[in-house]
Amino acid sequence: MRPGEGAAQRLESGGTELEDIEIRLLLEGIRLYYGYDFREYALAPLRRGLSATMARERVATISAFQDRVLHDAALMQQFLGTVGVNVTTMFRDSETIRCLREEVVPLLKTYPSCRLWVAGCATGEEVYALAVVLEEEGVLGRCTIYATDLNEEMLAIARLGSYPLDRIRRFDDAYVESGGLGSLSDHYSVVGRSARFNGKLGASVTWARHNLVSDGSFNDFHVIVCSNVLIYFRESLQARAHRLFYDSLIRGGYLVLGKRESLLSCPERDHYEQVSDGVNIFRKMRW
Ligand SMILES: C[S@@+](CC[C@H](N)C(=O)[O-])C[C@H]1O[C@@H](n2cnc3c(N)ncnc32)[C@H](O)[C@@H]1O
Repeated sequence: MRPGEGAAQRLESGGTELEDIEIRLLLEGIRLYYGYDFREYALAPLRRGLSATMARERVATISAFQDRVLHDAALMQQFLGTVGVNVTTMFRDSETIRCLREEVVPLLKTYPSCRLWVAGCATGEEVYALAVVLEEEGVLGRCTIYATDLNEEMLAIARLGSYPLDRIRRFDDAYVESGGLGSLSDHYSVVGRSARFNGKLGASVTWARHNLVSDGSFNDFHVIVCSNVLIYFRESLQARAHRLFYDSLIRGGYLVLGKRESLLSCPERDHYEQVSDGVNIFRKMRW
């Protein structure tokens, strides 16, 4: 067993009382020094991220990891990627995207201009998928998409709009299942081994850093998409994010959540109506 592996395995399977204390000290140190506040993140995925990083760094204790991470901004950036869990795809939940296309976009067509916010957009694939839907439905030109994430490195990748071609080809089936009107390849050009999304898609997107833990709301969104982010938050933090979304939506606006997420921790849940059974798209009906 390599140094760090024992502690990492133990941590993942629950951890000791001392390790719980060390985690609290680590999160407090990170908050004070780097300004990232993970104290209200769900413990299980946080432990997984920590244990993976510790095993990679071969450190035996969380305190030793704390020493390293506080003195090494590059390691903090790596840790951010693991704790923030930046795994993403395109057209991940085809049923939701089909519903968005069929039930939400027709209403967007009735507005002269529309504002959409994708919160926790990681490396941007989900945002390009949304832009593809809007483009195919002929509304992209009147839409502004704000795509935000905590992690500046993820946003830098997203801004480029260029991904490994073999990765993007893996989303062909999901694109079709979600109601795609042509071929996903209509929306990008192949440059060497990369798929570069058409400039028109990226031109409608403003990429910005925004932290759901500490930053304020924006205004007047017609649609907010936040998928696979709230699952990493404890209930209190989920409620904060929900309040932000509620305040940022226009009356009649739509909130799109991931498949494993819900309105349960949303203080204003009674003000929303589910658009279609089994699909996590909710319409804000009341103030
Ligand atoms: C699992 S990815 C989900 C990506 C995309 N929404 C999807 O469904 O494929 C979670 C993303 O949430 C971001 N994130 C985590 N905590 C955040 C916070 N407090 N504020 C904003 N984004 C956050 C992470 O950086 C990561 O990019």
